[in-house]
Amino acid sequence: MQQTRLTTASGIPVADNQNSLTAGPRGPLLLQDFHLIEKLQHFNRERIPERVVHAKGSGAFGSFTVTHDITRYTRAKLFDAVGKTTDVFLRFSTVGGERGSADTERDPRGFAVRFYTEDGNWDLAGNNTPMFFIKDPIKFPDFVHTQKRDPRTNLKSADMMWDFWSHAPESLHQVTMLFSDRGTPDGYRHMDGFGSHTFSLVNAAGERVWVKWHFKTRQGIRNLSAQEAVRLAGTDPDYAQRDLYDAIRAGDYPRWDVFLQVMTDAERQAWEQRTGWNAFDLTKVWPHKDFPRIPVGVLELNRNPDNYHADVEQAAFSPANVVPGLGYSPDKMLQGRLFAYHDAQLYRVGTNHQNLPVNRPRCPFHNQQRDGAMAVSNGGAAPNYAVVQANGTDARGFGHGDDGWALEGAAGRYDARGTEDDYTQAGNLFRLLPADEQDRLTTNLANALSAVTVPATIERQLAHFTRADPRYGAEVARKLHVQRGGAPVSVVKGAA
Ligand code: HEM
Repeated sequence: MQQTRLTTASGIPVADNQNSLTAGPRGPLLLQDFHLIEKLQHFNRERIPERVVHAKGSGAFGSFTVTHDITRYTRAKLFDAVGKTTDVFLRFSTVGGERGSADTERDPRGFAVRFYTEDGNWDLAGNNTPMFFIKDPIKFPDFVHTQKRDPRTNLKSADMMWDFWSHAPESLHQVTMLFSDRGTPDGYRHMDGFGSHTFSLVNAAGERVWVKWHFKTRQGIRNLSAQEAVRLAGTDPDYAQRDLYDAIRAGDYPRWDVFLQVMTDAERQAWEQRTGWNAFDLTKVWPHKDFPRIPVGVLELNRNPDNYHADVEQAAFSPANVVPGLGYSPDKMLQGRLFAYHDAQLYRVGTNHQNLPVNRPRCPFHNQQRDGAMAVSNGGAAPNYAVVQANGTDARGFGHGDDGWALEGAAGRYDARGTEDDYTQAGNLFRLLPADEQDRLTTNLANALSAVTVPATIERQLAHFTRADPRYGAEVARKLHVQRGGAPVSVVKGAA
């Protein structure tokens, strides 16, 4: 076997990696032991800030293959032929916990896919749930703070969480999902993924449709019981990482079928009129009976990263990364996210984070961004400025070609509370669950609410369950009552 010679980071052979340079056998150390100093210095700088959310994660490389023609909806090149494959990288995550937290905590799971297309990177940073807790990004930092640690006790706080949720009834749909069996998926391979937001597609004729992306697991949905999730958090906190890594290493490559839901703008208007819902509201889903899933392709994960830090920790997904033929929507949450990710990564990873191998496009790229810390790919001798032609703007390139959509409405801060229906879809989800799953949902909720110390918070939250479905509210209240040893739980103001 070939021996690898140990060198410093500058390539200089290291004479001795076991014994520091000292004055005499008992020391002290000599400052000229540059290898020792460099070794300690680099060690001190090994950590980069963890993601402010989704800090604990696992990633893998793979491919996406088109199985059905969707060129009537999009001119994006990755979809231009059935059978075409595109390299992908996918990072799964939990949301609220720190980098060392347990994989099996009750939490949504991140499902962030990067497609390395010939027109640049397309990032679809979604979750394993089709909806979200809030519909306005201005609430996101507050919401996330309630999922983190109390500033005084440094403990997670049921009071904070339920104070927020009980004041934000738009969260009820996602809270119902979170406390159902789907809140504790059995690893990352046995869950679905969703782009969650409404996005758009634009075809060669410039026509736009609104879409939602779905990734359906071929492994089958499998969830952990609440008890098993808690047990694993203690005995195998890296359960999902291990499961994913081992499956790929063994050649048992996980796959997801990729689907679209599609709405034309005329269909959107008719649907909004009929239901009263907003197609761009992230707390809502589009019922499959109204907008059936259209098959698109299959995604497979087949390669573990060689180096976790390089590829998984430094991965920087951004919902702003869409390629020609794909587009955004007016969804306020999406609009907020278009800003948030690149900004976070400039801080978390650095100015030139897009130059790192996992983030770099796999197509030629040219821009006039130069210099900054760690400018690994710095444009070489190419011009570092753009010339705007006197008669046009072709220095911008050949056109993203997105014709945009018409804007309307007066600038203002619009409070959706009390004017939008936050209950019907949450109730529908409850009613859709089989009886045994409803039972586990209401038990999980009663267990969680039993840690709340403020009676008004509990009352407010029970009223939301009841408005979604009287049986839902009554069951949680009954179990909570039992939990509390029969202490009175006043039920349930605001019942529909
Ligand atoms: C990660 C912000 C909503 C899915 C992050 C990060 C930030 C952030 C700052 C860390 C990025 C990094 O350091 O690389 C926000 C804001 C939101 C929002 C401001 C609302 C306005 C959502 C929603 C979803 C989502 C609705 C899912 C539908 C993710 C995922 C990651 C992430 C999957 C981890 C990506 C990875 O694996 O690296 N978010 N987020 N976020 N977010 Fe959000």
